[in-house]
Amino acid sequence: MAKKSKKNPQSIFIKDYSRPVTVYAIIISIFFVILIFGMKAYIANESLDEVPSNADYKNSNIVVSQRVDDLMSRMTQKEKVGQMALVDKNSLIKPEDIKRYNLGALLSGAGAKPDNNTAKGWADMITGYQDEAKKTRLQIPLFYGIDANHGHTNIPGAAVFPHAIGLGAANDTDLTARVAAATSQELAATGVNWSYSPSLDAPKDIRWGRVYEAFSDDPELIKTQGVAFIKGTQAKNQNNLEVMATAKHYLATGDQVWGESDNKNFKIDQGRVKPDEQRLENEYLPPFKSAIDAGVPSVMVALHKWDDQTIVTNKYLVNDKLKNELGFKGFVVSDWYGVYERAGDYYSATVKAINSGLDMAMLPFDYKSFEKDMLKALKNGDIKQERVDDSVRRILTAKFEAGLFDQKSVDYNSFSQVGSNSHREIAREAVAKSAVLLKNDNVLPLSANQKILLSGSGANNVGRQSGAWTVEWQGIDGNWLPGSTSIKQAFDKNDNNITFSEKGNFTGGVYGDIGVVVVSEKPYAEGWGDNPKPEISTEDMKAIKLTRERVNKLVIVIVSGRPLILDQAELAKWDGLVAVWLPGSEGDGVADVLFGKKEFKGKLPITWPANTLQLPIQANGQTADFTPPLFPRYYSIK
Ligand code: BGC
Repeated sequence: MAKKSKKNPQSIFIKDYSRPVTVYAIIISIFFVILIFGMKAYIANESLDEVPSNADYKNSNIVVSQRVDDLMSRMTQKEKVGQMALVDKNSLIKPEDIKRYNLGALLSGAGAKPDNNTAKGWADMITGYQDEAKKTRLQIPLFYGIDANHGHTNIPGAAVFPHAIGLGAANDTDLTARVAAATSQELAATGVNWSYSPSLDAPKDIRWGRVYEAFSDDPELIKTQGVAFIKGTQAKNQNNLEVMATAKHYLATGDQVWGESDNKNFKIDQGRVKPDEQRLENEYLPPFKSAIDAGVPSVMVALHKWDDQTIVTNKYLVNDKLKNELGFKGFVVSDWYGVYERAGDYYSATVKAINSGLDMAMLPFDYKSFEKDMLKALKNGDIKQERVDDSVRRILTAKFEAGLFDQKSVDYNSFSQVGSNSHREIAREAVAKSAVLLKNDNVLPLSANQKILLSGSGANNVGRQSGAWTVEWQGIDGNWLPGSTSIKQAFDKNDNNITFSEKGNFTGGVYGDIGVVVVSEKPYAEGWGDNPKPEISTEDMKAIKLTRERVNKLVIVIVSGRPLILDQAELAKWDGLVAVWLPGSEGDGVADVLFGKKEFKGKLPITWPANTLQLPIQANGQTADFTPPLFPRYYSIK
């Protein structure tokens, strides 16, 4: 008999038929032992236990805490870790990865839309992802989030509401709640169940590219607007679905110091904030406290550093202050790539952030390494099981409370909600209420029979009216948004005597009683809008000059995401000045106040500085150098 050798391992099976029966018995036993151990290991990892259809967590008559307990008792480590991952849909390598990695949440980062960018296209896309989640053993529904800053604005044809700074100017909580509720109806109609709004930031420096995403820099106004927005967003809609709001960006966002951004492309965004404890207590924590009391289920952590530490790794701010002291029972989510942005290695960044109190990581890219790092950290004891259980409990509680386990994720009969007339009416009302009258030397209101020369880059450009976060992250410059009304179109409805030239090139014998120049900023988002001196562009100044030469009276309308530094000698030559912020799709609202159909009601939600030496603005609205601003906070001449 040949010896069993490395060269011929099969020899014992193939050749020696005369081997005693016991040898075969041993071999078969070894085979079964391996099989049983293999199955056990597989079960431990993937847990193949069938979930009975009458499991407690599936029963909507049982209280949420018990449903969560039941679900968690069935979850494997991997399933728990998956709930903590938030992935951008464009980074999902294949939809089956939702099942494979047990993903808990997806988002469309701004501009991440389906090929068919319609309400139905969104509904189909999200339903497809939810169907993948249903293929998992426990069938935990996904959160699907977007930035609905001013409507469901990824979709051309949705109602575009004024950006938050306009709502701050209107200072009407009932209106803000209706804007938010209308937005969330549009979201729910397409299966989006999570909105990354409202922003509770407090912009102190108009050079920052995110001023317009905030309501104000006054903690009181931020509080009341934030609460109204949260309540409006979370008002259950007709299908009994709730869209979850997010209070962001925790903490002290808007207080960054000019010139201290770590991002080489930016000047102030994602930089450093330096308020002392006292200012955190007085200025920055109160709006978050109010949001928590109003029932906000998620809080997003900012990307900047407080002194030298990122907030996401600051246990004192996230765990001790937000969760323990303010009593936040929902879940904490990081901002885009926020865990890794400034980190050397992914593993220690993950460990630090989770141990600081982060519950869900907006990765948003690499979910595979997140799973690997989390499992390794749990195995090594670098992250404790109780920490993960606490996060998962918070996330699942929010899912149950929003009705995700009990309702259909999309109602295919609700697409008409998107961009509906009733939502546009609310938007129009918001536009009119947000307009702030800053100067009026007997020129406003305009009247229907006046001969008006209309010019300026913002006069016939709904892309500029809407600003960024509209279809694309950085917005789209141009007059292109279906279903919307430009200021010029709205003017034409009020007066047959309007001559328009964007650049103010009025020819020959064209003269007017009144000139209206709508100056504007090009859309920008986040640090791409950081600007050392936001002011009226050269082209618009030229349009002002050319228009001025041909009219008796001149009104300047500013379409912008922030106060612009104005040349005061020029300002003296204007008869009227109106700030309309970034009004969105309903230019009619601007015409309503300019033509006197509605009264001006808006007041400046932030201080309007006279120059950049006055920046940053102090908490009480005062300038940095104590010289008088051009217009103080809450100013209007009405
Ligand atoms: C922004 C957040 C936003 C997130 C998801 C980040 O770049 O800072 O405000 O919610 O992206 O789009």
